[in-house]
Amino acid sequence: MRFEFLKNRLFLLMMCLVATAGLIVSVVQNKSRPAESASGGEESLTPPPKSSSPPTPPVDNQDWAHILINKKHPITHDFSIETVPIDDVPVDIRVAPYLNSLINEAKSQGINLGICSGYRNIQYQKKLYEKEIEKFMNQGLNREEAEAEAARHVARPGESEHHSGLAIDFYTYDEPEKNLTSDFLNTKQGRFLDKNAYKKGFLQRYPLGKEDVTGYTDESWHYRFVGDDAEKIKNSGLTFDEYWEKYYSRD
Ligand code: DAL
Ligand code: ZN
Repeated sequence: MRFEFLKNRLFLLMMCLVATAGLIVSVVQNKSRPAESASGGEESLTPPPKSSSPPTPPVDNQDWAHILINKKHPITHDFSIETVPIDDVPVDIRVAPYLNSLINEAKSQGINLGICSGYRNIQYQKKLYEKEIEKFMNQGLNREEAEAEAARHVARPGESEHHSGLAIDFYTYDEPEKNLTSDFLNTKQGRFLDKNAYKKGFLQRYPLGKEDVTGYTDESWHYRFVGDDAEKIKNSGLTFDEYWEKYYSRD
């Protein structure tokens, strides 16, 4: 009888141990599973918590916003994208809500953020590039020298990010002499963008001191929509070209 009682106690103890082990395994498995987004997988521009750890490869849920157009990745045909005018400037319709939100945020801080360029087709870019070449030829450079110099400031047709409809050139009405110059960074608009544009998914594309990577002298007025990964890319210290090669390229 006593033996039977002890046997039952032992059995109960074993069951408890098995149940506890099962619970521990299940907790560990749940921890290693990626957390599901609270928004049910919808794209969100809520910045992730600040972290000093290196950027993790992004979830590639906004492919259209990750397209790379540069000197090494030119396009040969115009994209067929849907554009919508913001301030009379055509931009990709998918970017418009973020751009409007950025403009409204600036407005709420008393800053009037103008736009002077958005989507450009290849034909229009050709005109801009030719005009830039002419400017340098008028300064005494021969055609070849002028072409090389022009390409540091204006993209050759097919190589401009503006072809994507995701690039925006911002503008200040307060100090027009600083537009499209390095001094734009020292305007209310330039400082606002430098501090806030990433919160709406935009990145400064051609920073000072990165010409060897981007191919262009600094353009503190030229921003590019990249979506949710903007903060991660900004914090990585990489240009979009470098980040793209590291995380988005499928080669
Ligand atoms: N100014 C930039 C590089 C462009 O022309 O696209
Ligand atoms: Zn631009």
